[in-house]
Amino acid sequence: MGGIFAFACRSPRDGSAILEGLRRLTYRGYDSVGVAFLDDKIEVKKAMGPADRNPGLFSFTSRVALGHTRYATRGWPTVENAHPILDCTGRVAVVMDGVIDNYEQLRSSLASRGHRLVTTTDTEVIPHLLEEGKGPGDLLSALRGTFSAAYVRSGDERVWFVQDGQPLVIGRGQDCLYLASDLPSLYGFADEAVIVPEGSYGYISASGELSVFSADGSPVQQLTSKRVKYEPGSLDKAGYPHYMLKEIYEIPEALERTTHSLMDKYLRLSGMILYGARRAFIIGNGTSLHAGMVSAYYFSSLGGMSIDVVSAAEFPYYALDSVGTGTVVLAVSQSGETSDVIRSVKMAKQRGAVIVGVTNVLGSRLALESNVYLPIGAGPELAVPATKTFTSTLVALMLLAAHVGLTAGRLSQAELNELYNDIRSFSRSLAEDMPAIDAAASKIAGELRDSRDAYVVSSGITYPVALEGALKLKEAAMLHAEGVQLGELRHGPMVLARGNYPIIVIKPREEAAEELYSRVMSELRAREAKVIEVSDSTQAALQAPRAPRPELYPIAAVAPLQLLAYRVGFERGLPIDSPPGLAKAITT
Ligand code: G6P
Repeated sequence: MGGIFAFACRSPRDGSAILEGLRRLTYRGYDSVGVAFLDDKIEVKKAMGPADRNPGLFSFTSRVALGHTRYATRGWPTVENAHPILDCTGRVAVVMDGVIDNYEQLRSSLASRGHRLVTTTDTEVIPHLLEEGKGPGDLLSALRGTFSAAYVRSGDERVWFVQDGQPLVIGRGQDCLYLASDLPSLYGFADEAVIVPEGSYGYISASGELSVFSADGSPVQQLTSKRVKYEPGSLDKAGYPHYMLKEIYEIPEALERTTHSLMDKYLRLSGMILYGARRAFIIGNGTSLHAGMVSAYYFSSLGGMSIDVVSAAEFPYYALDSVGTGTVVLAVSQSGETSDVIRSVKMAKQRGAVIVGVTNVLGSRLALESNVYLPIGAGPELAVPATKTFTSTLVALMLLAAHVGLTAGRLSQAELNELYNDIRSFSRSLAEDMPAIDAAASKIAGELRDSRDAYVVSSGITYPVALEGALKLKEAAMLHAEGVQLGELRHGPMVLARGNYPIIVIKPREEAAEELYSRVMSELRAREAKVIEVSDSTQAALQAPRAPRPELYPIAAVAPLQLLAYRVGFERGLPIDSPPGLAKAITT
């Protein structure tokens, strides 16, 4: 995955334009950066880290240049795997944003036909297919996945592109045409931009030509244009005031990406490892721990297994004595760098445990320490309060639990396919519902602005979501909130439930919890507590979107809570993305 920025100009242009474009696309990933430009032949320069840290790469002038900033999903973050990637002859240079699902078959058939593949990426199949004389239309039919790609060829002053699910836009400046992954990156380069339609290909040329074709080769006649209107200061946040809000709005897209990012064979392998485990633990900290707690319900309902969930900080004291050969530790960490997780993983490995890592960062220490790792592929998350990585981790763990069920014979392949379909259709409906959820959260945020404390209450699969909602209120809104199990509310915490004390109740999805829920709700009403209900009922103060199956309900329920925490923090004028004294990952 990553960001693409290219130009094709009538007269030679300074490479600093690519640097600026990629800098604005850094939010799409920054494991490595690279650029190709046309001289007598194609010149390629690559380096590790973001564009900002590698300005030297862009000291060139050329009429045609193509840059990329990478978020590693297939293939480690290394200089070799950085884009652009060349074919065997060095005459084609390709960059890509997205994933190609069938790349392994393509890589082996290309290798058997004598191609030299020097990276471990999925992108590399493209330059070699082009080398064999395939055209951009052939790429649309040969490649399965969600991606957009762009390439330059030596002796051809055009930037070619293929769009199959990842965004691309084209802007026309005075002397140049620009191709980019998003509209804001074109600010100052072009006033208007054409949206490249999905399932199309085309080129921009140094002579000022722009052509777009449908997959069947017919020219696309009507192209939609949009104004490029963002202020430079807000570019990296794509117009959102904070990364946290942007990342919440990215949840639906990230869920979809998670389903593509997780490869079937690694899910199967991890599923088999867990199924064969004598004892299994899930470890993580903070939000990742909460995701692990939700997944214990998945492992029970989908996988038919029970699994212990322990804070990675507590694992050495709680569980280490019972760890040995036959133990599997499922380690969950967004950053893959959290020291408690790494320490516990190392200790468990020393005692013979097998480690299955679940992380958003491919080259992280957790990925390196794991026997098998599952990349959640949610895209870079920059706000300290984790949001889209929580929901993507839930999907990753849900799919893993389903693969345990598949191995155990509890679930058929058809049922697994149905789960994938449900996740994808749910993410589409969540995208539509997001503005309405945000509006409701904003309204309630006004009521909570002056509150000092709150409870977030639930039971069953949404009990860990209550813990996560309380964590978000602490991190983003600096509001002291406590996650409480619904039944436990009556064993002490209820003492505070009066007057204006806010109690956010996520209605449990489990039928067995209904009676308890009604009893607690009437007790709360009798005490005239300030109850804020989260459920998919139209009566709820914070209405969650409808989840097509119980496993997706935690995702439906957490989105309103994340937005509420964000909106309270916003009302209070807090530094939401980097709360005082916190860090995205505690690495020491
Ligand atoms: C820090 C962050 C939390 C995060 C936790 C675990 O404490 O402030 O927001 O949930 O680390 O991070 P990880 O990268 O391991 O998921």
